Parts: sequence; structure tokens; C-alpha cells
Amino acid sequence: MKVLGIETSCDETATAIYTADKGLIANAIYSQIPIHAKYGGVVPELASRDHIRKLIPLIDKVIEDANLTKDQIDGIAYTSTPGLIGALLVGAAVGKSLGFALNIPTIAVHHMEAHLLAPMLEEQKPLFPFVALLVSGGHSMLVEVEEFGKYTLLGETLDDAAGEAFDKVAKLLGLPYPGGPAVAKLAEQGDKKRFHFPRPMIDRPGLDFSFSGLKTFTVNTLHKQGDDSQTKADIACAFQEAVVDTLVIKCRRALEQTNLSRLVIAGGVSANLLLRQKLKKMAKKHHAEVFYPRFEFCTDNAAMIAYAGYLHLAAGQHDGMEILAQARMPLGEEV
Ligand code: KG4
Ligand code: ZN
Repeated sequence: MKVLGIETSCDETATAIYTADKGLIANAIYSQIPIHAKYGGVVPELASRDHIRKLIPLIDKVIEDANLTKDQIDGIAYTSTPGLIGALLVGAAVGKSLGFALNIPTIAVHHMEAHLLAPMLEEQKPLFPFVALLVSGGHSMLVEVEEFGKYTLLGETLDDAAGEAFDKVAKLLGLPYPGGPAVAKLAEQGDKKRFHFPRPMIDRPGLDFSFSGLKTFTVNTLHKQGDDSQTKADIACAFQEAVVDTLVIKCRRALEQTNLSRLVIAGGVSANLLLRQKLKKMAKKHHAEVFYPRFEFCTDNAAMIAYAGYLHLAAGQHDGMEILAQARMPLGEEV
């Protein structure tokens, strides 16, 4: 079975082909970062318009790269939720129409399910069951993954997502969008002993997160301490340490609570090197193993969509005639 994957939920247009026998055979991405960077964040209308321009050429590209023709594709998977509704609709409408024209099944994929399955594209893949920490620009959640399709939400953010907090703090510090990598880079020049930021929600039981207080603490520190370049680097460093420590503490608790010893980290923030370092240390101490997707599959991509779609189609599922797109949808509900 050969599955074409389409991702257009936010600011990346991406396509990929996953096959039953050879795995991932083609993968292409076009990032809209230069379009949105000057506005300091994603402009939804510009995102939708650019997906319209880029998606069909990117579909042609992966089919050509894979040495296939359109009629050799057996199924199409597209991200249907969560995301920017206009952006999602582009992928959904194109995916569905192509499926109709080729007379092949289509499947709507939950973007967060695809993120949590992304480490399965690697050689060293996790076995089920595992705990997944999904940390992206729109979501922060801990999920118990019993097997493919069986997900229990253990905790989520009550306000800002981890990536969103990075993006907002980057803006405060005058750094470009996307903020995560920029804050991480500036933090390298910071003195981690100068400021100590709070680790939100760690003294409360449960596995929920909250990052908006930390953002306010950052604003206040910046106002009080001035904004010379060393202070900015020290603040970036203290902020990153606080977010990372909070995530690591919650992961440890999730492993303890579920009695599991495998941890999967996915979503854009899983590219953060300090997070990886500290999780490695924690996992070693608790005899647990940590799994990540390769860097390019931490952030948005279509390989994970093609793969998740392949698993659904291989399990005999596919959608009806309707074009499915929804801005929000809890993980685990029917997409
Ligand atoms: O998964 P993703 O590509 O898109 C969403 O589905 O949201 O995640 C993007 C988020 C952005 O907020 C970005 O700032 C953050 O991931 N991010 C990082 C790093 N790389 C990307 N955050 C912290 N450190 C990084 N190295
Ligand atoms: Zn994502």
C-alpha cells in the first residue's frame, strides 16, 4: 500500500509518501516562515493562500521523487485537525478531491496523533505502551499510549502551550519568529545562575501544565532588570531552564503514575537540546528509555501524516465523502 500524506495545518506545506514495504519513500516540505516572520507570528489568511499556491506542486514533487505515477497511489491521508481552519481546509479539499478523482480511499488524520507516532518512523522505534509528551506551538500534553489508537490524556496545558510560551518570550526579547530556536540560541550566551524563574504547577498534584505565569514573570524581570543584551541572554536562559525543568518533572511523574518505562517526545519543542539533555538524565535515573523523531520530524511534516494515515487505512478505516476539517478536536475522538 502506498499512502500520500498532506500537511497544511499551520505554516508548513508538506507532502510525503509512505509505503507498506519500503516505509517512507518521499518527503517534501515548504516552510512559510519567511512570509510570517515580518509579522512576528503566523497570519492565518496568508498561510491559507500560500498553501493553495504550494500544495499541488509539492504533491507532484513527492510522486515524482518516489518514481510513481498518481494512479499508483492507494490512499490519501490529510491533517484534518487541530490547526488554522483556512489552512486545514486547503489540505482537506485537495486531498479529498484527489482521492475522489483517483477513486481511492482518503483518511482524515489528527495532527497530534501523527506527532506522537512520528518516532515510529525511526529505526529505533518505541514499543507500545509508552507515555508521550507532545509539545508544540499549539499544544502541551502528556498522553498514555496503550497501543495504536488507544490514547488517554494524562495532562495538558491550562493556558499557553510550551512552544507558544517560547514564541511569546522571543517576541518580548526582540527575537525573530519562530521563537523556540531563537530563545534556545540566545540562552547559550546566558548565565543560568543569574535569575531563577518559577517552575509552574510542580507543587500541585496532577499532570497539567501552565506557562502563562512564567511569561508574566519574564515580562516583569525584563522591565525590572533592563534590556541590555547580556540581561536578555540571562533571561532567555532562565526561561528555558524553567520550561524544561517543568516538562521533565511532569514526564517523570507521568512515568511513575502509569508505571511505564518508555517515553516518547514529539512536537516542535522536542527539538530543544536542553530538554533532550535533561530528559536523558532523568530517564537514566529512573531506568526509562526516551524516544524522539529525527529533528526534521519533530516539527510539522507530512511523513508523520502519511504514516498515521497508512496505519488507519491498513486497519481498514477510511472516510466517507465529506471534507473533514476542524480547528479543535480532543485527541482520541473520531476525526
Ligand atoms: O510542532 P510544531 O512544528 O507546530 C505546531 O504544531 O505547533 O511546533 C512549533 C513550535 C513553535 O512554537 C516553536 O517555537 C517550537 O515549536 N520550537 C522550539 C524549538 N524548535 C521549535 N521550542 C524550543 N526549542 C526549540 N529548539
Ligand atoms: Zn505540529
